[in-house]
Amino acid sequence: MAADNTVLDFLLTRRSRPVKLMRPPAPGRDELVTLLTAATRAPDHGKLEPWRFIVLRDAGQARFAAAIRARAAATGQDPDKGASAFEQAPLSVAVVAVPRDATKIPAIEQTLSAGAVCLGLLNAALAAGWGAAWLTGWPAYDPELLAEALGLAPGEWIAGFVHLGTSDAAPPDRPRPDVPALVTWAEA
Ligand SMILES: Cc1cc2nc3c(=O)[nH]c(=O)nc-3n(C[C@H](O)[C@H](O)[C@H](O)COP(=O)(O)O)c2cc1C
Repeated sequence: MAADNTVLDFLLTRRSRPVKLMRPPAPGRDELVTLLTAATRAPDHGKLEPWRFIVLRDAGQARFAAAIRARAAATGQDPDKGASAFEQAPLSVAVVAVPRDATKIPAIEQTLSAGAVCLGLLNAALAAGWGAAWLTGWPAYDPELLAEALGLAPGEWIAGFVHLGTSDAAPPDRPRPDVPALVTWAEA
């Protein structure tokens, strides 16, 4: 297989963009389907497709943000921490993990596949030149909110909200891991 140094350079330098710095436009439907198609080329043991997407834009996104604020008022959680990303980002994609029962594939492997889909979507968006960030926050862990506002079925859960938009500026990069300190070489 031939080396693709452009892709490798991208992977070595890729970084998320803060939602606060995102502005319109966001990917259109066709562009987003391309990004979602790239995301679903995730490793998936047993080909279970244990994930699905909910695209939140315009009124749909505003409705979810309002539902988060109402839920915060009812439960005492922080409304801004929950809702602001959906109010600031031009587009948000909920990556929903859909565990498949009656399979020999362990649930943890389905979870890992859902995480891989999130990273795939994030990286596809960044590679296509969009600003993107993978966030959760308390709304991702509020089953009642998710069932009512996003229609999640029992057992489904949020692997991530991937927020997308246009981003020109990037703050200083975060310190990156000291790779040699993380590696045990078992070679001899
Ligand atoms: C599952 C998951 C949830 C996350 N949720 C949040 C979050 O709610 N708020 C936040 O500031 N960062 C969150 N992060 C961290 C950011 O997505 C991201 O890792 C960080 O901004 C650095 O991104 P980069 O390494 O792609 O540049 C989360 C990361 C993961 C994997």
